[in-house]
Amino acid sequence: MRVGLIGLGTVGAALARQLVGNTTFLQQRAGGNLLTLAAVSARSQKPRPGLDLTSVPFVADPLAIARDPQIDLVVELVGGHDGIAKQVVEAALHAGKSVVTANKALLAYHGSELLALASKQGKILAFEAAVAGAIPVIKVLHEGLAANQLHRVVGILNGTCNYLLTQMQAGAGSFDHVLAAAQQAGYAESDPSTDIDGHDSAHKLAILSALAFGHPITLSAVAISGIRAVTAQDITYAAELGYHIKLLAIAERGDDGLVRQRVQPCLLPRQHPLAGVDNVTNAVQLKANLAGQILLEGPGAGGDATASAVLADLVDIAVGRCQPISVASTHPSAVVADNPLEKLVGRCYWRLQVVDQPGVLAAVAGVLARHQISIESLLQRAGHPDTQTFPNGNVPVVLITHRALEPALVAAADELAKLPQLHQPPLRLRIEDGLA
Ligand SMILES: NC(=O)c1ccc[n+]([C@@H]2O[C@H](COP(=O)([O-])OP(=O)(O)OC[C@H]3O[C@@H](n4cnc5c(N)ncnc54)[C@H](OP(=O)(O)O)[C@@H]3O)[C@@H](O)[C@H]2O)c1
Repeated sequence: MRVGLIGLGTVGAALARQLVGNTTFLQQRAGGNLLTLAAVSARSQKPRPGLDLTSVPFVADPLAIARDPQIDLVVELVGGHDGIAKQVVEAALHAGKSVVTANKALLAYHGSELLALASKQGKILAFEAAVAGAIPVIKVLHEGLAANQLHRVVGILNGTCNYLLTQMQAGAGSFDHVLAAAQQAGYAESDPSTDIDGHDSAHKLAILSALAFGHPITLSAVAISGIRAVTAQDITYAAELGYHIKLLAIAERGDDGLVRQRVQPCLLPRQHPLAGVDNVTNAVQLKANLAGQILLEGPGAGGDATASAVLADLVDIAVGRCQPISVASTHPSAVVADNPLEKLVGRCYWRLQVVDQPGVLAAVAGVLARHQISIESLLQRAGHPDTQTFPNGNVPVVLITHRALEPALVAAADELAKLPQLHQPPLRLRIEDGLA
């Protein structure tokens, strides 16, 4: 099988190292088929550390590889939901080649149409590496749980966010401090917004949800909030209450049959299996009618870990055991909720930065009562020593509220934000104690 590889970055170079350096082993795994790296393309032809590509033709135009009749299969490891990545995948499928990609953004935006194109062409579009790196969650959903009805998918799908939250929990400092350290250590991008604002997790969740429930990939129906507003102090308060804060990606089918998809920082009970998933590790918990609960955990990123999943797809295609994946754009077995938060009910953690004067708590309680939200417990703390995050003269008040409907919680938060006694809008995080 003659493989054309577009992209020689973190994942592409790791893949190329295996294809040129581990040929015999891979040939055995591929049922005797030789996986030959027949052409590569990248933005520049610079040397890649530990990779000798002198015997592999470098092709400046990636589309020439996609259209080359001498190439059997194209691997796209460029990234981005539009531009050259999309063009390459489309061109290769149109040229009658199967494609392997790790590109979650591309799939989240265009997955349904690209999978339909692959199916029309009778070819495979494989993407094990696009969700949770080395963890074979696509295979588990598509093959291992083929006979199950899924109830819920919960994931920790972004290593950068999980690393930042874990570091704050370990006392490594404020959000800004741990982010700067993570950027230096290579665990966060120089522009970390796709990760910390929750979009990367949302891309992956949109893919998993479509596979789990049988609806088209619908990124626009994922409610997304990231972790920027979470402070080290919130993590400490949550720990005092018996919770860890995690950025969770959750898709579940409600009693009304609708699938709700959301990415949110949440308080998770300390004893929940996902609460102990730390640093850059990813994990996915699946709840299915026959299989029950399944927990998958492992490296969610990194060159070798992600190349492992790309290679698994290549081997599957070479031996002919890769089944076309359909995400039911024509006959969906589930419908997604356009407003996934509308009917959510739950307990919440609130942190309010208030002026330290009499009557403040009564004003806060009054707002909550007006929205039929009752307070379960309250913690008032002395002013925090981090005066940058918590400017002088205000104190944090932490509330836990009883179960309430999301629209009421949103309305109450909006009204609280207008109180003159509040220094900043309240932080509200859902408490996910029903995920066992
Ligand atoms: N890194 C991970 O741990 C990880 C994990 C899971 C999934 N993924 C996904 O895997 C894909 C690749 O990620 P990565 O981290 O390997 O990215 P990367 O290190 O940024 O590498 C991107 C590669 O694409 C090449 N490229 C960029 N624009 C190009 C163009 N117009 N034409 C041809 N080549 C072009 C770059 O060329 P130059 O080298 O010449 O600049 C580089 O080799 C992405 O979709 C990403 O989301 C990555």
